[in-house]
Amino acid sequence: MIRIPISARTNNLGKVLDRVIAAHKLLREQNNPGRLIGPAGEPKVEESHLVECRKKGDIVVSPEVYAHYIEQFDEGKVKGAAAALFPNSTLKSISGRFYYPPKGYMGWHTNSNMEGWRVYATWAAEDKKSFFRYFHKNKVWTEWEDKGWNFRAFEVKKPNLYWHCVYTDCDRYSFGFRFQ
Ligand SMILES: [Fe+2]
Repeated sequence: MIRIPISARTNNLGKVLDRVIAAHKLLREQNNPGRLIGPAGEPKVEESHLVECRKKGDIVVSPEVYAHYIEQFDEGKVKGAAAALFPNSTLKSISGRFYYPPKGYMGWHTNSNMEGWRVYATWAAEDKKSFFRYFHKNKVWTEWEDKGWNFRAFEVKKPNLYWHCVYTDCDRYSFGFRFQ
């Protein structure tokens, strides 16, 4: 996992996504935050849960989620701003578009069905209240997120499984982009 340093391009993507978030906040105020996924019991984002998940082999998409799917936004505009981050690669799809309420989560999974680089733009309402957790070099690492925008990328490449999960105690937005 790498943190993408802040640049004019990340700032531009952040600005475009700020508008998506502002529109979604209005929808939330109208009790229309989009399709609810979960919750599926208590969040299972600890290392002990990963041990159980790895025994099963692979979990491509986590069945354990508590988030809202962000239904509508100007995808062309968002894709344009995201594609500019890596002009030498091809943006294949928007691979994630979620609003996580406080105590929201996505359990351990690998996305191993879709290889390539994944870039995540994540916005957190508060400092160090949410995290991205991943398994790398036989160790679990927890990346606490800053208030505001966080940009990161990781590669999904078989046969390695890139186990990861997220949890938040504050409002959190996450937009994923798959590059090849
Ligand atoms: Fe994922």
